[in-house]
Amino acid sequence: MTVPPRVRIVEVSPRDGLQNERATVDVATKLALIDALADAGAVTIEAGSFVAPKWVPQMADTDQVFARLDRRPGVTYQALVPNLQGVERALAAGVDEVAVFAAASETFSRKNTNGSIAEVMQRFLPVAARAQAAGVKVRGYISCVLGCPYEGEIDPAAVVRLAGDLIAMGCYEISLGDTIGVGTPTKARRLVEAVAGEVPIDRLALHFHDTYGQALANIFACLDFGVAVVDSAEAGHGGCPNVKGASGTVAKEDVVYMLHGMGIETGLDLARLCAAGKTISEALGRPTGSRVARAFG
Ligand code: HMG
Ligand code: MG
Repeated sequence: MTVPPRVRIVEVSPRDGLQNERATVDVATKLALIDALADAGAVTIEAGSFVAPKWVPQMADTDQVFARLDRRPGVTYQALVPNLQGVERALAAGVDEVAVFAAASETFSRKNTNGSIAEVMQRFLPVAARAQAAGVKVRGYISCVLGCPYEGEIDPAAVVRLAGDLIAMGCYEISLGDTIGVGTPTKARRLVEAVAGEVPIDRLALHFHDTYGQALANIFACLDFGVAVVDSAEAGHGGCPNVKGASGTVAKEDVVYMLHGMGIETGLDLARLCAAGKTISEALGRPTGSRVARAFG
């Protein structure tokens, strides 16, 4: 098995990890989490989202998070944006990068972004153009790549098409989201293989939620295609607010433990990650979702 020598971990904890939590997390706690991640060696941190506060109240204070960020050299602070209003807020806040998010399922697209897939992609065109004109890079997410909570099976061809369209729009990287964590290793491999026929492998990232406990196996199954970017959240918290029963992305501590054990570098300090996961779990009043963090105590 050939695996990449190094994997870049995209820290989605302050956004994906906190957007669906019942407990209110104040700005100071979010900033402490972001700093702890940077201290642990994180190079890409999704610090929040500039979405409609009515849709996701937990992210309403992202402007304040950016205003008070202790920016570390070499760290890219990214945020999710759904529309022009979002990108304007993001640029005013001084983001390093923005991320747009499409879905491979019509029903999910409407429930998460109040528009059909085509309408949402059309909405992103000026968003990407505005960001690029300001010198800000754009990342693209695709949700429901391995299944939809409303429509079930998703045709990989829909994912391939969207990935190509997002790249054509100027996205530098496509993050493949198994939003509800239903994928299994063979399916995940086939999907990545299909998308890699359209988008160079070094522009693909894996964003696997762990609802069914498959995320680590799915990541492992995709590594030997050369995918070298993995999204994950501290302690496995979070999930998408518009999906019932979906849990967080795979716990970062577990991904890092697996990768380091396979001799793959991440640049991250596992002990510090576990400490950061413990702190945010205490703030949320929830046990950690990381098996590795539990084992380390
Ligand atoms: P809409 O209701 O159609 O928007 O929602 P609208 O344009 O009609 O505006 C309605 C109100 O929202 C207006 O305010 C706007 O000003 C305001 P009002 O006049 O009623 O007072 N508004 C905004 N305010 C601040 N910032 C903005 C903004 N936009 C509108 N950017 C919209 C459409 C896309 C805005 C909405 O559906 C939305 O914000 N959706 C975001 C949902 C979301 O954040 N989901 C979670 C992230 S995606 C995810 O988790 C998946 C991922 O992790 C990958 C994976 O796991 O698969 C990325
Ligand atoms: Mg997600």
